[in-house]
Amino acid sequence: MIGLLERLGGPPAVHAAVDQLYRRVLADPALAPYFDGVDLHRQRGHMTDVLVLVLGGHAQPVALEAAHARLHLTDDVFDRTAGHLLDTLADLAVDPTVIDDVIARVAALRPQILGP
Ligand code: HEM
Repeated sequence: MIGLLERLGGPPAVHAAVDQLYRRVLADPALAPYFDGVDLHRQRGHMTDVLVLVLGGHAQPVALEAAHARLHLTDDVFDRTAGHLLDTLADLAVDPTVIDDVIARVAALRPQILGP
Protein backbone atom coordinates (compact mmCIF):
# COMPACT_ATOMS: atom_id res chain seq x y z
CA MET A 1 0.00 0.00 0.00
CA ILE A 2 1.44 3.32 -1.07
CA GLY A 3 1.16 5.88 1.75
CA LEU A 4 -0.70 9.15 1.92
CA LEU A 5 2.45 11.14 1.34
CA GLU A 6 3.34 9.44 -1.92
CA ARG A 7 -0.23 9.44 -3.19
CA LEU A 8 -0.61 13.18 -2.67
CA GLY A 9 2.87 14.09 -3.85
CA GLY A 10 4.94 14.69 -0.72
CA PRO A 11 4.76 16.78 2.46
CA PRO A 12 4.02 20.16 0.80
CA ALA A 13 1.01 18.60 -0.95
CA VAL A 14 -0.31 17.11 2.30
CA HIS A 15 0.06 20.51 3.97
CA ALA A 16 -1.78 22.20 1.09
CA ALA A 17 -4.56 19.60 1.21
CA VAL A 18 -5.13 20.02 4.96
CA ASP A 19 -5.20 23.81 4.54
CA GLN A 20 -7.67 23.68 1.71
CA LEU A 21 -9.99 21.10 3.30
CA TYR A 22 -9.96 23.15 6.51
CA ARG A 23 -10.82 26.32 4.62
CA ARG A 24 -13.60 24.68 2.59
CA VAL A 25 -15.26 22.90 5.53
CA LEU A 26 -15.19 25.90 7.86
CA ALA A 27 -16.42 28.24 5.09
CA ASP A 28 -19.47 26.03 4.55
CA PRO A 29 -22.31 27.34 6.72
CA ALA A 30 -23.84 23.84 6.86
CA LEU A 31 -20.65 22.39 8.37
CA ALA A 32 -18.93 25.12 10.37
CA PRO A 33 -21.34 24.94 13.35
CA TYR A 34 -20.21 21.37 14.08
CA PHE A 35 -16.77 22.78 14.86
CA ASP A 36 -18.03 25.50 17.21
CA GLY A 37 -16.18 25.20 20.47
CA VAL A 38 -13.59 22.82 18.97
CA ASP A 39 -10.17 24.46 19.31
CA LEU A 40 -8.19 25.41 16.19
CA HIS A 41 -5.54 22.81 16.75
CA ARG A 42 -8.15 20.05 16.96
CA GLN A 43 -10.04 21.43 13.95
CA ARG A 44 -6.89 21.17 11.84
CA GLY A 45 -6.23 17.79 13.39
CA HIS A 46 -9.64 16.66 12.19
CA MET A 47 -8.88 17.62 8.56
CA THR A 48 -5.59 15.72 8.82
CA ASP A 49 -7.38 12.69 10.33
CA VAL A 50 -9.86 12.65 7.47
CA LEU A 51 -7.09 12.75 4.87
CA VAL A 52 -4.97 10.14 6.59
CA LEU A 53 -7.87 7.76 7.19
CA VAL A 54 -9.24 8.08 3.69
CA LEU A 55 -5.98 8.16 1.74
CA GLY A 56 -3.53 6.40 3.98
CA GLY A 57 -5.20 3.04 4.30
CA HIS A 58 -3.99 2.74 7.90
CA ALA A 59 -5.88 1.09 10.70
CA GLN A 60 -8.26 3.46 12.45
CA PRO A 61 -6.67 5.13 15.47
CA VAL A 62 -10.01 5.78 17.18
CA ALA A 63 -13.54 4.46 17.06
CA LEU A 64 -15.11 6.76 14.47
CA GLU A 65 -18.59 5.94 15.66
CA ALA A 66 -17.86 7.06 19.23
CA ALA A 67 -16.03 10.20 18.04
CA HIS A 68 -19.08 11.40 16.06
CA ALA A 69 -22.03 10.06 18.06
CA ARG A 70 -22.74 13.31 19.94
CA LEU A 71 -22.84 15.27 16.66
CA HIS A 72 -25.85 13.40 15.15
CA LEU A 73 -24.53 13.97 11.63
CA THR A 74 -26.86 13.64 8.63
CA ASP A 75 -26.30 12.18 5.16
CA ASP A 76 -26.27 15.73 3.77
CA VAL A 77 -23.51 16.79 6.17
CA PHE A 78 -21.50 13.70 5.29
CA ASP A 79 -21.99 14.27 1.54
CA ARG A 80 -20.93 17.92 1.79
CA THR A 81 -17.78 17.01 3.68
CA ALA A 82 -16.93 14.25 1.19
CA GLY A 83 -17.58 16.79 -1.61
CA HIS A 84 -15.11 19.26 -0.10
CA LEU A 85 -12.54 16.49 0.17
CA LEU A 86 -12.97 15.55 -3.49
CA ASP A 87 -12.90 19.21 -4.60
CA THR A 88 -9.70 19.70 -2.62
CA LEU A 89 -7.99 16.72 -4.24
CA ALA A 90 -9.19 17.68 -7.72
CA ASP A 91 -7.94 21.24 -7.16
CA LEU A 92 -4.53 19.87 -6.20
CA ALA A 93 -4.50 17.84 -9.43
CA VAL A 94 -4.38 14.52 -7.60
CA ASP A 95 -4.41 11.53 -9.96
CA PRO A 96 -8.03 10.67 -10.90
CA THR A 97 -7.47 7.00 -10.02
CA VAL A 98 -6.55 8.10 -6.49
CA ILE A 99 -9.70 10.23 -6.36
CA ASP A 100 -11.80 7.21 -7.41
CA ASP A 101 -10.21 5.26 -4.57
CA VAL A 102 -11.02 8.09 -2.15
CA ILE A 103 -14.70 8.00 -3.16
CA ALA A 104 -14.85 4.29 -2.35
CA ARG A 105 -13.06 4.69 0.98
CA VAL A 106 -15.13 7.66 2.07
CA ALA A 107 -18.34 5.81 1.23
CA ALA A 108 -17.20 2.86 3.35
CA LEU A 109 -16.82 5.13 6.42
CA ARG A 110 -20.32 6.60 6.19
CA PRO A 111 -22.08 4.06 8.47
CA GLN A 112 -19.53 4.63 11.25
CA ILE A 113 -19.62 8.44 10.98
CA LEU A 114 -23.42 8.59 10.93
CA GLY A 115 -24.02 5.84 13.46
CA PRO A 116 -27.19 3.80 13.86
C1 HEM B 1 -14.64 10.52 6.24
C2 HEM B 1 -15.23 11.18 7.19
C3 HEM B 1 -14.64 11.50 8.56
C4 HEM B 1 -13.52 11.02 9.17
C5 HEM B 1 -12.50 10.01 8.66
C6 HEM B 1 -13.44 11.68 10.47
C7 HEM B 1 -12.44 11.48 11.44
C8 HEM B 1 -12.51 11.92 12.75
C9 HEM B 1 -11.66 11.49 13.83
C10 HEM B 1 -10.52 10.48 13.68
C11 HEM B 1 -12.08 12.13 14.95
C12 HEM B 1 -11.52 11.97 16.36
C13 HEM B 1 -10.58 13.08 16.66
C14 HEM B 1 -10.11 12.95 18.07
O1 HEM B 1 -10.94 13.07 18.98
O2 HEM B 1 -8.92 12.72 18.27
C15 HEM B 1 -13.19 13.00 14.58
C16 HEM B 1 -13.86 13.86 15.43
C17 HEM B 1 -14.74 14.84 15.01
N1 HEM B 1 -15.34 14.92 13.77
FE1 HEM B 1 -14.92 13.75 12.20
N2 HEM B 1 -14.49 12.55 10.58
C18 HEM B 1 -15.26 12.46 9.43
C19 HEM B 1 -16.42 13.16 9.15
C20 HEM B 1 -16.91 14.22 9.89
C21 HEM B 1 -17.99 15.09 9.51
C22 HEM B 1 -18.85 14.90 8.25
C23 HEM B 1 -18.12 16.04 10.49
C24 HEM B 1 -19.06 17.21 10.58
C25 HEM B 1 -19.09 18.13 9.64
C26 HEM B 1 -17.11 15.75 11.51
C27 HEM B 1 -16.90 16.48 12.65
C28 HEM B 1 -16.11 16.06 13.72
C29 HEM B 1 -16.02 16.77 14.98
C30 HEM B 1 -16.72 18.09 15.33
C31 HEM B 1 -15.18 15.99 15.79
C32 HEM B 1 -14.74 16.31 17.22
C33 HEM B 1 -13.51 17.17 17.02
C34 HEM B 1 -12.70 17.29 18.26
O3 HEM B 1 -13.25 17.54 19.32
O4 HEM B 1 -11.49 17.10 18.12
N3 HEM B 1 -16.40 14.63 11.11
N4 HEM B 1 -13.43 12.83 13.24
